[in-house]
Amino acid sequence: MATGFWSRQEKARSRTGLMVFFFALAMWLLVALITRGEFGSWGNPGLFLIVSLVMLGIIGMDSLGRLTQLSAIAWWSPPNMTSSAQRHSNLDRGTPGRYIPRVAEHSQPLSARTRLCAVYGFPVGHSASPAMQNAGIAELGLDWRYTAAEVRPEQLREAIAGAQVMHYIGINLTVPHKLLALEMVDVLDESAREWGAVNTILFEGQDDNGDWRALRDFETAPHRLRSHGFNTDADGITQSLREDLGMEVRGENVLLLGAGGAGHVAALKLAATGVRQLHIVNRTESKAEAIVAEIRGRFPAVAVSVGYPGGKVDLVLNCTSLGLAKGDALPLDISLFSLDNARAVYDMIYQPAETPLLAAARAAGCQTANGLGMLLHQGAKSLEIWSGQTAPLKVMRAALEEAVNG
Ligand code: ATR
Repeated sequence: MATGFWSRQEKARSRTGLMVFFFALAMWLLVALITRGEFGSWGNPGLFLIVSLVMLGIIGMDSLGRLTQLSAIAWWSPPNMTSSAQRHSNLDRGTPGRYIPRVAEHSQPLSARTRLCAVYGFPVGHSASPAMQNAGIAELGLDWRYTAAEVRPEQLREAIAGAQVMHYIGINLTVPHKLLALEMVDVLDESAREWGAVNTILFEGQDDNGDWRALRDFETAPHRLRSHGFNTDADGITQSLREDLGMEVRGENVLLLGAGGAGHVAALKLAATGVRQLHIVNRTESKAEAIVAEIRGRFPAVAVSVGYPGGKVDLVLNCTSLGLAKGDALPLDISLFSLDNARAVYDMIYQPAETPLLAAARAAGCQTANGLGMLLHQGAKSLEIWSGQTAPLKVMRAALEEAVNG
């Protein structure tokens, strides 16, 4: 790799050139001295001319040629000592090991027209969303890329505004931004209002008629922009329960573990879908009580209570973070509820693929599923909001499984 304008190899070549130059000068002086008597004080003019031309050639190739980059002598350079122009053309072609990746690795090279999407989280390095979304984007033939950004909660507002003015197509939000964003977007979709959290933002522009449309519809950048918040998590839960457990939820009896952000959305979605009975258990009981009160107010047909059920349930749904870390305890107290009393167990955690809860449920003969399907469906819904097209689920699922399970 070159260090500054002249590489180490180029400097070595210059030194050799200078030595040849002085050698040729000495030869010229010697010839001039020997032939002085016959041709006057300047020696033989023919020899003078030949030696001078050789000297000029050496100087031109080894020193001046480098500085002025004379194309007439560039062919002489050996391949490992290419001119600056040649080095740059190699870079553009994606020389392996250079900082620009090989273009062949992408389905489509990045261009000035490439638009971006991103997921914001804190932390976010573990996210499988870029793998899943980029696979979906490529399958739809869109000139977009999806990245991840570690955004601190106190800088979330600026990060959303930054993406908006840079004409991002949209962004996803993950822990701990979903509740904060409720106050930060310009407009809330019905889904975000209903489930009380934002996990998807669509950036929109105002057209000449004053209508707001997704940025994908504009040929040139619109003057006025706004952020539109959605929630796709809730639909992801019921879709995954249907697909992975064959469960419709309506009329079922469910034990829900956890009353954090995910537990809140899941409880509301189950109630809205027509679950018959809902039992909510959480370490901090007051949070479970708050959700129970909300459901009683909004969905009076649902029999909802805090605490473990007395008999059998159709589904145990884990919405706590217990099981994520090695050595975590089970998210439920088996002295108060036995998994023998559950028909199916769903864990929102997808890494590890089988949590201690799922292992215990399998041993008890329950149907089991992890949260991969939920992640897939909420992501697919986001891509549909941004693109206006049906998401390629098969391709996205394969990319997600590859990213998570290797
Ligand atoms: P998320 O947005 O993923 O739901 P969260 O809002 O932080 O994240 O919620 C985490 C859930 O896991 C909560 O239900 C939490 O219980 P508390 O409300 O009592 O905090 C639960 N949780 C986390 N660690 C736990 C632990 N060690 N024991 C029991 N429950 C735990």
